[in-house]
Amino acid sequence: MERFIAKLPKAELHLHIEGALEAELAFRFADRNRIKLPYRSVEELKQVYTFKNLQDFLSAYYQMMQVLQTEDDFYELTYHYLEMAASQCIRHVEIFFDPQAHMDRGLNFEVPMNGILAALKAGKQQLDISYHLIPNIMRDRSLASATKALEIILNYKENFLGIGLDSAEIGFPPEKFQNLFAEARAYGLLTFAHAGEEGPVENIWQAINLLKVRRIDHGVRCIEDESLLNYLANTRIPLTTCPLSNIKLNIFSDLHAFPIKTLLSYNICATVNSDDPAYVDGYLNENYFAITHTHRLTKADLRQLAVNSFHASVLPNQLREKYLKEVDVYCQGH
Ligand code: HPA
Ligand code: ZN
Repeated sequence: MERFIAKLPKAELHLHIEGALEAELAFRFADRNRIKLPYRSVEELKQVYTFKNLQDFLSAYYQMMQVLQTEDDFYELTYHYLEMAASQCIRHVEIFFDPQAHMDRGLNFEVPMNGILAALKAGKQQLDISYHLIPNIMRDRSLASATKALEIILNYKENFLGIGLDSAEIGFPPEKFQNLFAEARAYGLLTFAHAGEEGPVENIWQAINLLKVRRIDHGVRCIEDESLLNYLANTRIPLTTCPLSNIKLNIFSDLHAFPIKTLLSYNICATVNSDDPAYVDGYLNENYFAITHTHRLTKADLRQLAVNSFHASVLPNQLREKYLKEVDVYCQGH
């Protein structure tokens, strides 16, 4: 099965580029930017990567991103991820970044944007991976900060597929961002939101009804609400689930509780993604491997997940059809 997964063409739709900051890269960037990390070695740093919950993870994630200072840093970080993606047969990526986190520590918005976009362009040419980029609004910072971020995002809106919503979920429901997201939509941006990861089912409903999202990121707590399961099945609003991240951040106690079978049995457009691969012990294929072993997924299930990843993506029809054909041809031959 691992060999089947390894070469299966797929899309990754839930990936925070800052979450692909491997410890080795972090030390390289820290050295050249003369930033002192409070760890002596890669091994010592990796030992810190045990998280009680989402907030515990976010503290490490925001601390480590301080080493990212220049366009070159963001370029190398992104290109490193894309090389890994190419080696895992990822054909298309829609990746997130957190502009407020970078601007609040003194970087210009253009630094992450230019570095990430240049790498994505190079990845398209050299690795044949298509892409979209999505800036996330941080739900646990002020509305004023989010409004300022959106103003800058709109100056460059042709570079972005839409805006997302991330960071600490409990206590920060989507409704606070209803007007802001309406403004983004009025300018032609799509909307996305993390919801129902650590926070309640109500956040998923709000993301759908108030933010009019194109997809829900995580959304796994939908299993607590039968009417929501049916709604997601009927509307085909996709979920970008992240199994290893959910285990590492204690959303579920173990992978047996991860509801991939339920989501597939309801015919929900569920997808598998890595979220923050440097922090959660796995890139995309490792996520597929883990749920396949735990839930005894069949090749038909895996094919469905790959097909879902392209249906859930935002691609021009021709390119989507091309990738779906690649999945078909691969599955017929294996
Ligand atoms: N949830 C919320 N915010 C995040 C995450 C996540 O899983 N990863 C990076 N920022
Ligand atoms: Zn995420």
